Amino acid sequence: MAKTWLITGTSSGFGKALATIVAQQPDTNLVATARKTQDLDYLDQFTAAHVEKVLVDVTQPADVERAVQVAQQKFGTVDVLVNNAGLGYFATIEESDMQQVRHMFEVNVFGLAAMTKAVLPLMRAQKAGVIVNLSSALALTTLPTMGFYSATKYAVEGYTDTLRQEVADLGIQVMAVEPSGARTDWSGRSSAKAVPTLADYQQFSESVEHVADSVHDAPGAPQKIAQAIYDQVTQADPLPQHLPLGQFAYEGGLKNLTQLVTEIKSRQDISLATDD
Ligand SMILES: NC(=O)c1ccc[n+]([C@@H]2O[C@H](COP(=O)([O-])OP(=O)(O)OC[C@H]3O[C@@H](n4cnc5c(N)ncnc54)[C@H](OP(=O)(O)O)[C@@H]3O)[C@@H](O)[C@H]2O)c1
Repeated sequence: MAKTWLITGTSSGFGKALATIVAQQPDTNLVATARKTQDLDYLDQFTAAHVEKVLVDVTQPADVERAVQVAQQKFGTVDVLVNNAGLGYFATIEESDMQQVRHMFEVNVFGLAAMTKAVLPLMRAQKAGVIVNLSSALALTTLPTMGFYSATKYAVEGYTDTLRQEVADLGIQVMAVEPSGARTDWSGRSSAKAVPTLADYQQFSESVEHVADSVHDAPGAPQKIAQAIYDQVTQADPLPQHLPLGQFAYEGGLKNLTQLVTEIKSRQDISLATDD
């Protein structure tokens, strides 16, 4: 039976690359979502019978519901949900504008949670499904000026790890993907930045200023990242719980997590002395 994918944020970057792969597969349906109609025109080259375009802003509950309804009416269900839509924000913690931060949380965390909540009843009913959440290498390790972005992606990790445990017996598999910096629109039009004002953080202001330019140097290839996600979803059994992609995610993530293990072990006596 044909599998149906629902992907958010397919106007550019990873989402567009993955939608392009999925749309070419036999026995596969695609519900591709974006915020603007014209951003989905590239899908017109594929068989319309297997591709449905839906306008979705993940912060709008009515949009989220409609996407799932369309998937159900047109294709019967959703087998694979890819929560890809996301934003960035570049600023030191102290210089961050909390309205921008809250908006980023609305998209990266609550939008992802809303999509997931809307799809779960279908997956529970069929006792099968895959949920892929786009996290980040910056949820495995951290960098100055990326604190609140990391906070959204660490939230995605905690959410994803918990969800996995809750739905494992229902036949639903859940994977967090942690890409390194990649050449998408993310650090440009999909990210905001604060105007650095405090001299004490001057050492970071240059990187914030030129963040949009850094995309050209990013090693991550969106096409390869999308292919890796597609291959894991369709071939890996069981699905990995985490998929770090790129050298920074792999090496930076391992270094940070190894340091964490070392630090936790070094205080074993204190940790174990606080229970009665
Ligand atoms: N590129 C990287 O270096 C990198 C690394 C690790 C993780 N990630 C994560 O990967 C995911 C995809 O990003 P990308 O790199 O492919 O960047 P991108 O090319 O900028 O794509 C971001 C997508 O998110 C969509 N989006 C933003 N706000 C939305 C909203 N409120 N509702 C629905 N869609 C919304 C954008 O739609 P519009 O076109 O309408 O704005 C766009 O389709 C994000 O979650 C990002 O945090 C990126």
